[in-house]
Amino acid sequence: MGRLRLPNPIAVASGTFGYAREMAAMVDLRRLGAILPKTITQHPRIGNPPPRTVETAAGMLNSIGLDNDGIETFLARHMPYLASLGPPVLVSIAGKNDDEFVAMAARLDQAPGVAALELNISCPNVSGGVDFGTDPAMCERLVAKARRACALPILAKLTPNVTRIDVIARAAEAGGADGISLINTLLGMSVDWRRRRTRLGAGMGGLSGPAIKPVALRMVYQVARAVSIPVMGIGGIASVDDVMEFLVAGATAVQIGTANFYRPTVSMEILDALPGALAELGAGRVADVVGTLEFPPPAACAGPAISNP
Ligand code: SIN
Repeated sequence: MGRLRLPNPIAVASGTFGYAREMAAMVDLRRLGAILPKTITQHPRIGNPPPRTVETAAGMLNSIGLDNDGIETFLARHMPYLASLGPPVLVSIAGKNDDEFVAMAARLDQAPGVAALELNISCPNVSGGVDFGTDPAMCERLVAKARRACALPILAKLTPNVTRIDVIARAAEAGGADGISLINTLLGMSVDWRRRRTRLGAGMGGLSGPAIKPVALRMVYQVARAVSIPVMGIGGIASVDDVMEFLVAGATAVQIGTANFYRPTVSMEILDALPGALAELGAGRVADVVGTLEFPPPAACAGPAISNP
């Protein structure tokens, strides 16, 4: 992915894989294309009130609220283990403002074992969490500042809670992002009408899982055509067929998220099946299928109201 070299295109998404240690008994961590630990912030956060997760039709809602112990504890307690595993470690960071993002980017630039940063500008569960991912000017400015603060490859993780995802992606590219990862969760709600209560303690939360895959595919397709930097697809990926759909739609690599919760070995199953799926298309390499979707057919060009390039 540009400056970021991945051994294969199957990564595990931030927030769905702990700090990897938790998964070691079930997953051969060395085989992964990349590991993205839970988003860290400059200072520890206790997160949102429980309940923090609720199952939905074909998905789940979460409102974790970026619960984490802060960057220094992460670097001392988790980074040495993560760095020892082999796959590139892409550290996901979230800041309350430009200065926090910049301070974390500069700190991680000096930290051994960090392969890249993923700027989480798309968490819907904290105050201001999606501001940088919904305002193109803020997005570009933030990415440019992070870019100046560190030499590591930078991915911008985008929120689907926008009308024009291509505009935000272009802003991230203009700011100097090396790649785009998308999508984070869609803001949603679950209601227990008998109790007249929301099921999540915070009221609302981010929807993920197979339910959001069609939205993610559509946005990956749009963004891959809008920018010239690589795209990492995220959103409901749970099988090798899902992976192939994202690659053909324009993703250079993917992140497995919610499926890790209900089938922790899913990344290994996908890795086993990927060469066979590529061979079905006569492809020997992932790059041979990326962005090869034949769409739109000429007659359908005028179709969708939200039409990007
Ligand atoms: C959370 O911690 O609330 C989820 C993280 C995210 O949506 O980016």
